[in-house]
Amino acid sequence: MKDLLRLRTSLTEEIEKAINDQIKMEAESSAMYLSMSSWCDRNGFDFSAGYFKKQSDEEREHMLRLFKYVSDMGGRAVSPDITNTQIEFESFRSVFEQALQQEIAVTQSLNRMADRCQKAKDYVTFTFLQWFLKEQIEEEYVARRALELFEVIGEDGTGSYEIDKRVPKITYENEYDK
Ligand SMILES: [Fe+2]
Ligand SMILES: [Fe+2]
Repeated sequence: MKDLLRLRTSLTEEIEKAINDQIKMEAESSAMYLSMSSWCDRNGFDFSAGYFKKQSDEEREHMLRLFKYVSDMGGRAVSPDITNTQIEFESFRSVFEQALQQEIAVTQSLNRMADRCQKAKDYVTFTFLQWFLKEQIEEEYVARRALELFEVIGEDGTGSYEIDKRVPKITYENEYDK
């Protein structure tokens, strides 16, 4: 029976699992950003709360994009279990440090997946992944820029307020990609 079911999809079990793992990672990112939004909100960082809420929505979109791909390919897309999402953070700055770390971890995970696709000669999934790999340039850029505000502006006096105000204004422009 199992062999027969596998005929419905050209995804190997290994690749299907890797994509499902990535689905989970995007869902975890979405949950984490929502948690960060809540922390910022209750600590008076209104603009950052909005920024993280938006990030959370984007990560859910990423999850759904992967989810649809597995389904479209005849595979079994798994709705992930998300537990133990962090609730408290040490400081305003540490939220942004963690956000950048998270984005870097996602980039590394996608790179590993691209590597696996090549080894398995799954160029369909490899091509599908290009969108995600490219997206990470922007994701890392924005997270890094946000963290840099802590160096450039500093948190003293009205510093944190200034940082908070500027966070949602960070935009990524790629003039070579139009
Ligand atoms: Fe993502
Ligand atoms: Fe992201």
